[in-house]
Amino acid sequence: MNEKKSKNAKMIRMCVDIAMVILMPLLMAYSLVGELLHEIIGVSLFVLFITHHVLNRKWLSSLKQGKWTALRVVNTAVNVLMFLLMLAMMVSALIISNYLFVSLKLGGAAIGRVLHLVAANWLFVLMSLHLGLHMNTVSTYFGIGPHKTLRRVLSVVFALIAVYGCYAMIKRSMPSYLFLTQFFAFLDDSEPVVFFLLDYVSIMIFFAVAAFWGARLLTLPRTRRSKEDGTKAAKAPKKKRLKVLLILAALALVAGIVWGVPYLRRHFKTVTIDSKMATAMPAVELSGRTLTVQFTRVGNTDFAPDVDAVSSASLMLDENGSLVGNAGLIAQMVQNAVGGDVYPIRVKEHYPSSYADTISVASREFKSSSFPELTGSDAFPDTAAYERMILVFPLWWSTVPKAVEAYLSQQDLSGLKVYLILTHGGGGKGSVPADLSAMLRGAVLDENILLIYDDDADEAAGRVYEWLKTID
Ligand SMILES: Cc1cc2nc3c(=O)[nH]c(=O)nc-3n(C[C@H](O)[C@H](O)[C@H](O)COP(=O)(O)O)c2cc1C
Repeated sequence: MNEKKSKNAKMIRMCVDIAMVILMPLLMAYSLVGELLHEIIGVSLFVLFITHHVLNRKWLSSLKQGKWTALRVVNTAVNVLMFLLMLAMMVSALIISNYLFVSLKLGGAAIGRVLHLVAANWLFVLMSLHLGLHMNTVSTYFGIGPHKTLRRVLSVVFALIAVYGCYAMIKRSMPSYLFLTQFFAFLDDSEPVVFFLLDYVSIMIFFAVAAFWGARLLTLPRTRRSKEDGTKAAKAPKKKRLKVLLILAALALVAGIVWGVPYLRRHFKTVTIDSKMATAMPAVELSGRTLTVQFTRVGNTDFAPDVDAVSSASLMLDENGSLVGNAGLIAQMVQNAVGGDVYPIRVKEHYPSSYADTISVASREFKSSSFPELTGSDAFPDTAAYERMILVFPLWWSTVPKAVEAYLSQQDLSGLKVYLILTHGGGGKGSVPADLSAMLRGAVLDENILLIYDDDADEAAGRVYEWLKTID
């Protein structure tokens, strides 16, 4: 009877844990599953988390007993951090909720958003590590333990998925969320959610496999040859290994931040480019004249002399030592291919040098009902002289920068064909197609939009050329 009870309890615990593992990647796909569903999943995860702790309450009461091995220290640290992160997640979720808790009207949305983003990503990592640290329990539960061949096959399969998971983690800019070099979760809404989920499951497996092998390293008995008979004798694991592991982890962290992830390097360091080479394009014959209108941070920002120290993503330095923005570089590619004119939109009051501050200023602009003032409005190109307008601008807060809207509001667009090249930091189109269409009075936005990821801008000439060939 007792055995049956404990079997049932084990099964309930396992079901709760599996449900959590399934919900976590879904939670990461927040805008892809829809905000309301995201909030419902978040609350469900929180309930499961509490249930998990209640079901495993024995762990808490056993904390005072037993020896503190290196593995136990790591396990406990992971658990405590997870608990704190879950609290941070819930508090920030209450602050930024748009559906379930919106009536609470708690302030501090800007901080709440950043806290939620960073806590969610760290929680994802720690939950994956936690899973890896308990892999033996999982394999015992599913009866895999005694099957040596199956264990070996699974090890190879998981190792392969983990390699992909490591790549997916970098591809999805996860380190930039973990170390807060990116202040939004940029998700490409046009991507099928299943691809996103598969990537996050493999990232989870990557961390779980790393934790599993890390734990093995900590607990493997050190062997030494017995002087007398030359046979191996087991020795208890040493705390020294924990120190070595921590030092290695710290070194890996530092290496990852400084050099390991190309995105981060690009984020911190302005990239030097040969703009002539980067924008060299074969001619594309289009009927009628083209006006290319671009908006970029460069030319609209008071960059500090030591720009790398305060600014970040998407800045390039050309062969003359001048800063170039993504949209500016791409607009130049367009002009080199199709000719016509390029008009750069300029705001009167420049944005701050710091990337984070620019994001805050832009957020305030979106909340305001007025437009930022533009310079040169007396010398706007006469749109009547052109057959088409190609807009090139960055995605800001998942939509059209307010300066671009300000410019469009002052133009007579009737009869123009309007095309769009949008650069972004991972957020894809955001809500730009619908938002921009609403701004184009008298003109229609062509559906064929070219999306360029910010780190790829200096290598985008080929894609821009192919796209230009399709638009006439
Ligand atoms: C104020 C601001 C808001 C941004 N918002 C988003 C966003 O919501 N989604 C995204 O993917 N990238 C976002 N980005 C990143 C830019 O879209 C991306 O880095 C772009 O390529 C920059 O182009 P630029 O060099 O021409 O300014 C934002 C950047 C800034 C400065």
